[in-house]
Amino acid sequence: MPNKIPLTKPFFNEFELEELKKVLESGWVAGQGPKNKELEKEFAEYIGIGHTVCNTNCTTALHLSLLVLGIKKGDEVIVPDYTFPATAHAVLYAGATPVFVDIDPKTFNIDTNKIEEKITSKTKAIMPVHTFGQCAEMDEILKIAKKNNLFVIEDAACAVGSKYKEKFAGSFGDMSCFSFHARKNITSGEGGMIASNNPKLIEDARSMSCFGIESAYARENKFQVPQFVKLGYNYKLSDIAASIVLVQLKRSEQYVKKRNELAEYYNNKLKEISTITVPFVEKHNRHAYQSYIVLLDKKINRNDLIVKLGEKGIQTQIGTYSLHRQPVYQGITDCEEKNFPNSSFVFDHSLALPMYYEMSFDDIDRVVDTLKEVLKE
Ligand SMILES: Cc1ncc(COP(=O)(O)O)c(C=O)c1O
Repeated sequence: MPNKIPLTKPFFNEFELEELKKVLESGWVAGQGPKNKELEKEFAEYIGIGHTVCNTNCTTALHLSLLVLGIKKGDEVIVPDYTFPATAHAVLYAGATPVFVDIDPKTFNIDTNKIEEKITSKTKAIMPVHTFGQCAEMDEILKIAKKNNLFVIEDAACAVGSKYKEKFAGSFGDMSCFSFHARKNITSGEGGMIASNNPKLIEDARSMSCFGIESAYARENKFQVPQFVKLGYNYKLSDIAASIVLVQLKRSEQYVKKRNELAEYYNNKLKEISTITVPFVEKHNRHAYQSYIVLLDKKINRNDLIVKLGEKGIQTQIGTYSLHRQPVYQGITDCEEKNFPNSSFVFDHSLALPMYYEMSFDDIDRVVDTLKEVLKE
């Protein structure tokens, strides 16, 4: 059998190895070191946002963002129903209740027409997700947030390099959170980042990511024993991981460009299969294609297809999850099936096809030919 085509494959080369060698030799491998500082500066410049703090991952970044905005027990946070559960888990970690909203079946992003009906006197924030690397409708979301006096926390886990109306994902909300997990466009295996234009929020998040210690800036240069002022966490990113993300970040534009070329090739090639719908991209969006997700005709058994493709050396996956169908949220919030038809449909009928920087057009030909073969069986 020819080589397997994986769903995803991070790209590293000698530049990561050189940076790793330097950081290992430097003696500073823990968090809050020079590489964290450098990454925070470069990431902020790339996204076009004032302040950033590195984090262990996007889930902890979301948790801290909610905490520093003062979101707590008794509060509600609006989240899309179709997302990785980390989005709603973070709301529960903060003690608040996630409130699910159905999605637009074309973009897979939160349906902005259905947000206001879910707002109550307890609602404190909207947490849009830029699903698979395509930005949610930020103008509408910001308008609703302003009108109802709500915070906006962007879950930009999949959206490093995504743009909405020429501006980078993560530069719209009060706070935004990114992931450097292995399946993301830029990665250190695990990792995350919080961004905001409000320096106070970022300093609070920095303190909360380091056990709730008082800010190093508050201690100035003279020696002073620091105090632990809050019950914070250990959510720091190691300088080892930060050094890898720094190299990856320099290639972000290159990654997005290649992923768009691959997506375009897929889109053309998949025209040959009438039972497959290719991703829809809003004209004002630059998709980062963290994942390339197609919709299958209802007649196709998606789960069997994943198994059969796997047997022929093509690794595929479902898109992501319908939260209202996860056991963990039952009894906590509205999980009634009738309220989330689009999320449910996409959950059952989406398929993630292989997509990674080093993928070739020949690989795509093989994926699509194998798909055709299996769908004919
Ligand atoms: C939309 C979304 N939010 C949050 C996360 C969590 O990211 P991390 O694995 O960095 O915690 C993911 C991970 O896949 C995600 O897809």
